[in-house]
Amino acid sequence: MRTPLIAGNWKMNGSAELVASFGRAFAEAELPGDLEVAIFPPFPYLEAARREFAETRIRLGAQTLNPLHSGAHTGEVSGGMLREFGVQYALVGHSERRQLYRESDEQVYDRLLAALSVDMTPVLCVGETLEERDAGHTREVVLRQVGHVMARLEPAQRARVIIAYEPVWAIGTGRTATPEQAQEVMAAIRAYQGGFDRDLAAGLRLLYGGSMNAGNAAELLAQPDIDGGLVGGASLKVDDFLAICQSAG
Ligand code: G3P
Repeated sequence: MRTPLIAGNWKMNGSAELVASFGRAFAEAELPGDLEVAIFPPFPYLEAARREFAETRIRLGAQTLNPLHSGAHTGEVSGGMLREFGVQYALVGHSERRQLYRESDEQVYDRLLAALSVDMTPVLCVGETLEERDAGHTREVVLRQVGHVMARLEPAQRARVIIAYEPVWAIGTGRTATPEQAQEVMAAIRAYQGGFDRDLAAGLRLLYGGSMNAGNAAELLAQPDIDGGLVGGASLKVDDFLAICQSAG
């Protein structure tokens, strides 16, 4: 059985008050027994989040990390630093990083290795643009992004990676992939992983991201190969995020 994970990516949003409100709400919330919950706030809120979430099930994630440990890289943050704040997960390859900051598959791979090297769980984000989907290239694009990283890892490393499928056209647009569209790609990712090792594929956790909300989460999460969600906009509203978590039971 795969442990479900609902992760909230706040992107460049949030406030100290939002952190505190999540702490209060989740301290009293009834959540499905085996559910893992994580919030990925902007870096400046990590310390407050660690404090406010201490009595909750919420774990901490980072939205990115630099591949290096330290050095003259103004504005960057390393995995070792994040670990000092109790961060357990790191997003790598989010489409906003790929598009807005020109991160290549190679840089995504380097960041993922950096996360593994400090014992964080990387969440590798992949997904096709609308043009790629319309041209019938979804599977090829997604498996290239997955393969560029997964094919180069040792089996023990591969087992520690979570993959989030986020169709770019569904991010922040209110246009969610249908459960069938999402399931089709998830199944392809799991089958690809099965080419390395069947047991690892069966244990691989796959998250869906892209306009997931309290109204559509249950049917997406009911798909056999979807093990959780990576939530953007709806993770900024505590009631909505809580409702998504509760539908993951
Ligand atoms: O990483 C989460 C994400 O990109 C989805 O964002 O706002 O469509 O839920 P949103």
